[in-house]
Amino acid sequence: MDGGWREIEKGAILTAGEAAERAPRIFGIPTGVEGLDDLFYITRIEDGRPVKVPLGGIPSRAVINITGVPDTGKSLIAEQFTVKQAALGYPVAFITVESPASFVTQGLMQRAAAMGINWEDIEDNIVLIDAASNTRLREDVDVLLDTLAYVIRNYDTKSVVIDSITGLFESREMLARNIVRRIFNFLKKWGQTGIFISQKRSNQEEESAEAAGGYAVAHIVDGTIVLHKRLITRPWEEEAFGVPIGDVLRTIRIDGMRLCGHDTRTHVMEITETGLVKVGPPLSEVIRRRRG
Ligand SMILES: Nc1ncnc2c1ncn2[C@@H]1O[C@H](COP(=O)(O)OP(=O)(O)OP(=O)(O)O)[C@@H](O)[C@H]1O
Ligand SMILES: [Mg+2]
Repeated sequence: MDGGWREIEKGAILTAGEAAERAPRIFGIPTGVEGLDDLFYITRIEDGRPVKVPLGGIPSRAVINITGVPDTGKSLIAEQFTVKQAALGYPVAFITVESPASFVTQGLMQRAAAMGINWEDIEDNIVLIDAASNTRLREDVDVLLDTLAYVIRNYDTKSVVIDSITGLFESREMLARNIVRRIFNFLKKWGQTGIFISQKRSNQEEESAEAAGGYAVAHIVDGTIVLHKRLITRPWEEEAFGVPIGDVLRTIRIDGMRLCGHDTRTHVMEITETGLVKVGPPLSEVIRRRRG
């Protein structure tokens, strides 16, 4: 009776107890974005009661998708995260797919200056992989992952930022799930925390799951952060949000996170004059205060 039993993947079978022993302890990875780190928490039982304990960042080893239409602050967040982690002494691999490494570096330097962080202290902790200028890295996932493995091993990086993941399957969207899945699995295997930037084409379907990046990226990653901007055109909006007609209201929302609890509300978001993303109060609170 051994026919048909030869292909058992024993390595893939484990009891929940064995899996639990291997599970890494979850802690917060600071993002460098003011107001964002407080939105993640874990729940502990103390004296028989559940208590929310702030994580102080995104969950360690999570792979998070940040999505939004153009000019919503995705790249700024990617850069702030990179600068913050580098400043904490943790090397970061930054795969740039949209703009060449020299431009990204300028952005990183500006972000560091705005965050009050000395560039000389962090420059060696940021390892850029310039897929924007290299077609093979953009089009061949095997080459990209081999290159990334080399970087992780040689620079001992703890996190990987990809701006943008959507740039890796431009014009071949039926491969999107496969590419995202492979990179996701790779980051898990190497114990990296991941930030994927996803470009969203339109503001449509803001409330649906597809809003979280499209291409079903959201189903693969551990969590999604949705950035949104809304042009204020009506008096009632001006009244409710306190944003003048013709100005833009920016918001941010955590759309699911597998590894920890999180705030589910839509928050006001600001991009400061120095180009730093900051998370403000929940939109509901803003409206209530204005009515109050
Ligand atoms: N000092 C600044 N430096 C950079 N950006 C600033 C600054 N001040 C304000 N901003 C705003 O932040 C925006 C940058 O957003 P960002 O580059 O993060 O967009 P994105 O979501 O990555 O867009 P895309 O999908 O086009 O890459 C600018 O377009 C600008 O409106
Ligand atoms: Mg960008």
